[in-house]
Amino acid sequence: MRENDFFVIKAQEDGVNVIGLTRGNTTRFHHTEKLDKGETMIAQFTEHTSAVKVRGKAVIQTAHGEMKTEEES
Ligand code: TRP
Repeated sequence: MRENDFFVIKAQEDGVNVIGLTRGNTTRFHHTEKLDKGETMIAQFTEHTSAVKVRGKAVIQTAHGEMKTEEES
């Protein structure tokens, strides 16, 4: 994915976490954003962020398509 491609995360429950992971030799959390139901985050991969972890129920759109995280059991 090109660095200037945006991705969209829409929370479908309160307390969805969007966690940014560092680019480079070590992979660690550097930022956590908490979204409540209906809140949307629009973000990019950057020089600092190479991966994103989403925890909770959400719809995620990227250049590769749209996906929904699994419901918690
Ligand atoms: N300062 C971070 C950066 O430029 C902000 C950021 C970009 C971010 N994309 C993200 C944080 C995705 C969390 C998730 O890399």
